[in-house]
Amino acid sequence: MIIAIDGPAASGKGTLARRLAGHLGYAYLDSGALYRAVGLQVLNAGEDPGDEAAAIRAAANLQQDLLDDPAIRGETPGKAASRVAVIPGVRQHLLAFQQNFAALPPDGAPGAVIDGRDIGTIVCPDADLKIFVTASAETRAKRRTAELLARGETADLAKTLADITARDARDRSRKTAPLKRAEDAYLLDTTNLDIDGVFLEALALVESAKAGRE
Ligand code: CDP
Repeated sequence: MIIAIDGPAASGKGTLARRLAGHLGYAYLDSGALYRAVGLQVLNAGEDPGDEAAAIRAAANLQQDLLDDPAIRGETPGKAASRVAVIPGVRQHLLAFQQNFAALPPDGAPGAVIDGRDIGTIVCPDADLKIFVTASAETRAKRRTAELLARGETADLAKTLADITARDARDRSRKTAPLKRAEDAYLLDTTNLDIDGVFLEALALVESAKAGRE
């Protein structure tokens, strides 16, 4: 069972995907972490995330330990991620990893939950369930600001709103695998839902997708 969860920055897709995976006993892949790690690896090498050759080199030699490094979570690596993510050669390197994860989830898990921007459209177009998670830009900026402050980073609401709006625009307008809702994805607007509310709505979708498979 493959569950694809896509959506714009700070829409709550990671929180939902992690919780669903935990509840169902499925493997979880945060595909954004791959792009963030590539972005940070380029920055750490003193190179520019817009430099195609440097970004492709980083994607081909991704340092796995960066995937769990809290340093990838800030808005600076987030911006670098969305800049390397427009480069087709970078996406190509990360695609096989994501598709292998879906085909053969680690530890023999009976399913996988993967979140990102192009999971339902490009990575797993045949996913059993696709959910496109959204929320108003203001709500998303508030959530991201609270998340950054909780981690002890400095964060300013207006700057965070500007950062995520710019990142969404870049993600939506790129030529390769842009952020967009797959035609067969359920739209889940979380503007007025808390984490439990989002989880329960998604769980109902999972139950009906499972029933449809039987
Ligand atoms: O956590 P947040 O929603 O802010 O972002 P993320 O999911 O960690 O993704 C960071 C960036 O990686 C995005 O802005 C995209 O540019 C890129 N990305 C992508 O292009 N394709 C994916 N499947 C996942 C992330």
